[in-house]
Amino acid sequence: MKEFTLSNGVKIPAIGFGTWIAVKEDPGIVSKAIEEGYRLIDTAAFYDNEEQIGDSLMHCNVARNELFLTSKVWKTKLGYQSCIRSFEKSLLNLKTDYLDLFLIHWPKNNLETDQWKEEDLETWRAMEELYQQGKVRAIGLSNFYPHHMIPLLEQVKIKPMVNQIEFHPGYTQKYVVDFCKEHNIIVEAWSPLGRAAVLSDRTVCEIAEKYGRTPAQICLRFIYQNGLVSLPKASSKIRMHQNLEIFDFEISEEDMSILHTMPQTGWSGEHPDRQPLVDLGW
Ligand code: A2P
Repeated sequence: MKEFTLSNGVKIPAIGFGTWIAVKEDPGIVSKAIEEGYRLIDTAAFYDNEEQIGDSLMHCNVARNELFLTSKVWKTKLGYQSCIRSFEKSLLNLKTDYLDLFLIHWPKNNLETDQWKEEDLETWRAMEELYQQGKVRAIGLSNFYPHHMIPLLEQVKIKPMVNQIEFHPGYTQKYVVDFCKEHNIIVEAWSPLGRAAVLSDRTVCEIAEKYGRTPAQICLRFIYQNGLVSLPKASSKIRMHQNLEIFDFEISEEDMSILHTMPQTGWSGEHPDRQPLVDLGW
C-alpha cells in the first residue's frame, strides 16, 4: 500500500476504508476490508459503530501497530473536557489504548452559534494534550474551511496534520485543498466516489474506458495523484479489492485537467456554514 507522510513524520496509507453506515448494514464489513488489504479504518463517535469495529479489530489477524485507526469527536462534544471524554470512550469502544489519528469532526456545533472559534480552540487544547501524552499519533480536523482554520492556526501550539473533506471528481474544493497544502496539512477525501453518483458521469466513464479501468478506479487514482488520502466505502470484497488496485497506472495531465474542470456533480449538499441541501441524517 502506498503511503503519504504527515507533517510529524507519521505515515498514513493512501487509501483507507470508510465506515459511515457501512457497518450498520454489515457488522463484519471491517473484517472483510482488512482481509482485502485495507489498513486505515476511518470511523467517528457519531457513526455509532466503534464497538463493532473494535470487535473486528480484536479478531483480525493483523497486529494493531500495522493498522491505522482514525476516530473523530462529534460537534456536540466540542470543548476541552467533553473532547477528552469522547476520546476515552472511543478508545474503550474500539478496544485499543491509542488512536493513530483523532479529528474534530465538524467546526460548529450549530449554525446559530457565535462561540465556535472559542469552542474549536478549547477542543484543540484537548487534542494537543492527547497528542503530547502519546495517546494519539496525529491530530487533525474534518470539514474545516480556511476561515475555520485561520483563527485556530493563529493560536495553536501543534498544527493540525490532517483535514478530511468531501472530495471527488465533480467536487474538488480546490481552495480548501490549496490552503491545506500551503500549511502542510494532508487532505483526506470522504465520499471519494461521490456516494456512487460520480460513477455514471459521462466524463468519468469516458476516461475509465480509455484507461481500461472502472469509474471508481479513475476517481481514486485522480484523488491519489492530487496527493490526497481517499476513504472509499464498498460492500463487496470484489469492489473493496478493485478500489485498492489503482497504483499500476497513471492518469495523464491532460485527463487530470479534464477531471478537474468537469461540472460540479455528486456533491452531498453538506457545508459547515449552511443548512444541508439534502438530509443525510447528520
Ligand atoms: P456498495 O456499498 O453497494 O458497494 P463513497 O465511498 O463515495 O461514499 O461511495 C460509496 C458508494 O460507491 C456505495 O454505493 C458503493 O456501493 C459504491 N462503490 C464502491 N466501490 C465501487 C466500485 N468499485 N464500483 C461501483 N460502485 C462502487
